Amino acid sequence: MSFRLQPAPPARPNRCQLFGPGSRPAIFEKMAISAADVINLDLEDSVAPDDKPEARTNIVQAIGDIDWGTKHLSVRINGLDTPYWYADVVEVLENASDRIDQIMIPKVGCAADVYAVDALVTAIERARGRSKPIGFEVIIETAAGLAHVEEIAASSPRLEAMSLGAADFAASMGMQTTGIGGTQANYYMLHEGAKYWSDPWHWAQTAIVAACRTHGVLPVDGPFGDFSDDEGFRAQALRSATLGMVGKWAIHPKQVALANEVFTPSEAAVTEAREILAAMEEATKSGAGAAVYKGRLVDLASIRQAEVIVRQSEMIAG
Ligand code: COA
Ligand code: MG
Repeated sequence: MSFRLQPAPPARPNRCQLFGPGSRPAIFEKMAISAADVINLDLEDSVAPDDKPEARTNIVQAIGDIDWGTKHLSVRINGLDTPYWYADVVEVLENASDRIDQIMIPKVGCAADVYAVDALVTAIERARGRSKPIGFEVIIETAAGLAHVEEIAASSPRLEAMSLGAADFAASMGMQTTGIGGTQANYYMLHEGAKYWSDPWHWAQTAIVAACRTHGVLPVDGPFGDFSDDEGFRAQALRSATLGMVGKWAIHPKQVALANEVFTPSEAAVTEAREILAAMEEATKSGAGAAVYKGRLVDLASIRQAEVIVRQSEMIAG
């Protein structure tokens, strides 16, 4: 462990990010009254090329007109490999009200990608006298993005969150699958004739969590494409939460409640964490560094583990 303290990520709930195409303004009100913590109005891959200009106009208008409550309001721009991204930033930030909180940058491959958007955003903020600084979230969804994940996590003080984008990531890696997240049929170990499925997203997820936790950024799991499969979504989300991610995208409104349920520490988990803290307080009083809780060892590290759960629960509640 370094002598440096691990920086805390932004203290706001990010259990579910609900996406909607900027070219479909009829659903914006429905997004606003959903139970998602974060709203991602999309200008990228859910918007056809010819619809980009109109989608920008829709989004600018909706940011000002709709009551988004306490939601974290984010706009996903196009990638830096497209001719659209600069106009996305300029149109939205020159015209949208201060209600916008964040720009989401897809397909980030290196820290310089974030620097480029930061330079443009900073210039617009100064030119327009925007008093509320725009935050960033990035999507790791290319081989380069994962190879450079740590420098990306450290790239800008604007950076608040980082998501894994499973579909583009799979394509960039040359993975032989069309599944968006979750169990992949061909990724299994064979033992005595029985198949044991493994998790092809595990390495990318843990790399993202480590980079994010090192630099005080929120690690988020991206889309689960099959929105008819609630159990598949829940299983993927449970794995992500177990690995340290704080939330997951919803690409359909029915996924919002599933994500909120998984990424809100359960009452049972919070009770157990509090009991562990109480057991350790007793142990510490009597001068011991370790104790027994329900037949298992708890020690000073258990305090830190339990505090993760209690803090997350209190932050969501408060
Ligand atoms: N946010 C809020 N409400 C939504 C919604 C969304 N993203 N998607 C659909 N709805 C609404 C529909 O308008 C409908 O409302 P109604 O009951 O009042 O008529 C209801 O939810 C049920 O919708 P459904 O008919 O099941 O879906 P659909 O065929 O209208 O849309 C998708 C399905 C997948 C095309 C749509 O959910 C969508 O565009 N998702 C986001 C895609 C996206 O942004 N991708 C980029 C990130 S990967
Ligand atoms: Mg993508």
